[in-house]
Amino acid sequence: METLLLAPSEESLDKAARLLLEGQVVGIPTETVYGLAADAFNPQAVEKIFRAKGRPQDNPLIVHISDISQLELVAERVPKAALKLAAAFWPGPLTMIMKKSQNIPDIVSAGLDTVGIRMPLHKAAREIISKSRPLAAPSANTSGKPSPTEAMHVFEDMHGKIPLIIDGGACSVGVESTVVDMTGEIPRVLRPGAVTEEMIAEVLGAAETDEATKKGLAKGQTARSPGMKYRHYAPKAPVVLYEGAPEDTFKAISENALPQEGVICFDEYIGYFDDMQALSLGPSWDHHSHDRHVFSHLRHFDSTDVAKIHVQCPREFGGGEGSANRLRRAAGFNCVICSSKTVAGITGPSGGGKSAFCRNILSLFPGNILYIDADEVYHRLLSDPLGCLSQKILESFPEARQDGRLQRGLLAQVVFRSKARLELLNKIAHKAVLEEIRRLMEESSRPVVLLDVPLLFESGLDRICTITAGIISEKEQRLKRVLSRDNISESDALMRFENQPDAAFYEQRCDIIVKNDGDEDGLLGKSKAFAEKYLTVK
Ligand code: TXA
Ligand code: MG
Repeated sequence: METLLLAPSEESLDKAARLLLEGQVVGIPTETVYGLAADAFNPQAVEKIFRAKGRPQDNPLIVHISDISQLELVAERVPKAALKLAAAFWPGPLTMIMKKSQNIPDIVSAGLDTVGIRMPLHKAAREIISKSRPLAAPSANTSGKPSPTEAMHVFEDMHGKIPLIIDGGACSVGVESTVVDMTGEIPRVLRPGAVTEEMIAEVLGAAETDEATKKGLAKGQTARSPGMKYRHYAPKAPVVLYEGAPEDTFKAISENALPQEGVICFDEYIGYFDDMQALSLGPSWDHHSHDRHVFSHLRHFDSTDVAKIHVQCPREFGGGEGSANRLRRAAGFNCVICSSKTVAGITGPSGGGKSAFCRNILSLFPGNILYIDADEVYHRLLSDPLGCLSQKILESFPEARQDGRLQRGLLAQVVFRSKARLELLNKIAHKAVLEEIRRLMEESSRPVVLLDVPLLFESGLDRICTITAGIISEKEQRLKRVLSRDNISESDALMRFENQPDAAFYEQRCDIIVKNDGDEDGLLGKSKAFAEKYLTVK
């Protein structure tokens, strides 16, 4: 069979719809990954999907709709909670498991009485569905291989097997949809994706994640989602996954990898892997970038002869869950745990409440948490005029020496109004603070570290964290707090705010955002919930 690869147009989408209504299988773009679609109500057509993919028949398919009115065609007794999630996240990367309707043939649901339903965001996908019918579509890869995020990937796996692939460009999300089971009391994430447990909980009040998404299934345990039990997403070469803070996983890969082996790492480290075949996932904090690159990078190595692929695992919070989960499975759970402590980097703008947040956690869980205030460390290091940091600064700024030692007043004059000099000073300071913090952490036997760092990302200290959190609040509240705490005028406080990044900066970079817009008790509750959930303290 000849396989056509066509860009979306009125004509090509009509053609796709016609083929689908005739019972053929078509490769379609979605925002998550490419899908291998067939008419969801036609068992013979769906059978062809399983054949083309080489997919085990006990692994059910997701049904894609283009309009909420189609929901009642495919599901029965739609829970209210599902309608709320649909309003919040559809069209988009969320699949909900519900009781299936009589219209859904057994082959789609693999004999289960439930069905996964999703309304994709990609325009071409929606148009094809509305021109045809609800479509059953798994990812368009050969079973077991990395999912396709470009039309060429589908072509590699499916040419000769299907008549048409619609080329809708690179997928904007890049990992498959979040699968959430809506049949129980509390919605349960069975496959993590771009819609996180936190996002679902924000809409419904509660959500949980199946443990099997994190670990391999224990012997004898049955998979809630049949897809959990198969080896998946795997390139030809074996994958080793390094989990933990970026600095720790970088170090472990540097020690373990051999020249010419494959590396998938963060932007911050790509320059250190000159003698390897290295690809970047983007900055270590950028989960969207990780998602967009993870499958295409894994697939890339199939066209090379690398003997092994070493991968830095994204932090598994606030959007990193999807790529971490896919990478673990690509590695067949060959994972190296590289950080010995939980290190939480707490940041946010002045007056946002980060220190109160840290204090709350320390008072609730004394004993097993080491608290480090990065500003305090910096001032302590700097206050020793003969100390290591002062010596380092004098090497670069000899003009700041008086009577044989560093004079801070002089230093301020030297760097004042010179961006380049200030940057150099910051670089020296950040490195010294980082080393001192590492020393404090090593010295301590406490398993959890709370790092209070106003400039977490600017200083690069985020790289030693296993989780990052931004404590933010509205400007008026911050102003009130700053004025009652620090001895400064309103205009000075506002000027300080001007020089700090806005909320979007933290929302983009932090794994977890804590909104501190209530009273002290409100923050106390949020501090407790954060610690219990992410710091494994009880
Ligand atoms: O983003 C996506 O969801 C992509 C695009 C094409 O929409 N599709 C996709 O389908 O990833 P697939 O077949 O590769 O993965 C479907 C997952 C599997 O893990 C399957 O076990 C689970 O959803 N699943 C489907 N129906 C289920 C059900 N009734 N109960 C539990 N899990 C189900
Ligand atoms: Mg798949």
